[in-house]
Amino acid sequence: MDDARHDKGSAPDYRLGAGGIMLSNAWYYALPAHDLAQGAMRHCTLLGEPVLVGRGADGKVFALRDTCPHRGTLLSKGKFDGREVECPYHGWRFATDGRCTAIPSQTADQRPQPSDIRAVTFPVAERQGNIWVFMGTQVGALPPVPEVPAIGDRFQFHVAVAFDCNIDLAVIGLMDPAHGAFVHRSALWRKEDSIHEKAKAFSPLPEKEGLGWRMDRHTASRNSRAYRLFLGGAPETEISYHLPSVRIEHARTPKYNYCGLTACTPITPERTMVHHVMYWDVPGGMLLKAIMEPLTRRFLDQDRRAVLDMQEGLAFDPPTMLVQDADTQTRWYYRLKREALAAQAENRAARNPITPVTLRWRS
Ligand code: FES
Ligand SMILES: [Fe+2]
Repeated sequence: MDDARHDKGSAPDYRLGAGGIMLSNAWYYALPAHDLAQGAMRHCTLLGEPVLVGRGADGKVFALRDTCPHRGTLLSKGKFDGREVECPYHGWRFATDGRCTAIPSQTADQRPQPSDIRAVTFPVAERQGNIWVFMGTQVGALPPVPEVPAIGDRFQFHVAVAFDCNIDLAVIGLMDPAHGAFVHRSALWRKEDSIHEKAKAFSPLPEKEGLGWRMDRHTASRNSRAYRLFLGGAPETEISYHLPSVRIEHARTPKYNYCGLTACTPITPERTMVHHVMYWDVPGGMLLKAIMEPLTRRFLDQDRRAVLDMQEGLAFDPPTMLVQDADTQTRWYYRLKREALAAQAENRAARNPITPVTLRWRS
């Protein structure tokens, strides 16, 4: 029933969209590694939780819940000497693994003593210039940390734009394949009259990569002019989408590679941070970076405005529809999310319901 090719457009489950459930037990993009110097700490709100992300004197990244176990003060407002975080209110101290090491107000015979107290920690990972925090209660082996293929160390730049909407609207707004010629209209990139029919093969992600799908490797569309300009030839592109909210694009020509990583992190149910990181091994990168960074920012801002316009309309609770096949990925997103939530509730492994299919649309 849910196979989009046999489904003539149906009402989307915007209940889920309206709720914008923030999926736990997943890695979420917190901040780029270059924003966290040795001995520094930062406050991040991730999925409504206060998180302190820091980098110790040893260079290692750690994450603590950013509220003091004593009276809830933000620990990130305190001091960090590269080994211990000191709360600004009464000076309780915490090691980077969450151990409490000092409670200055306590006499030796009083409780609690530091050994009675522990700050909550979160698993954290630094990969390819990105810092990810695992938000959830899952024990045992954690899912793989999102990574781009082929050119992992060629980090070029990071751009973040806050969308004042829930995670679902941000994700489906960005993944939508049919808005380019309208939302991103520009002389360089897209024009309305460049719209043409496309057929793309999709397949489910291999099980070890989690829930998601892949647009199989294909030669990039002929109206993607910028690729040609910068990569010097017709690139082959592969795009994968990983639940909850990571999209990875890999383009390669005979000579060069380019990767884009887009990660949406729910800050609260009404606010989502969209991170975009680019990698490439094209020489002369400084010029390319000078062009691409503001362009990316502009693109994301166009997406942000498009999504907010949709959100404003949806506030009237209008009837809406999902069409074939341009809206199939949106439908998949909701299906996979429902499956992930059901699997968590039933304490079982999630099953990917997607089967290989070729989707056709005009864009
Ligand atoms: S609130 Fe942190 S030490 Fe009291
Ligand atoms: Fe877009």
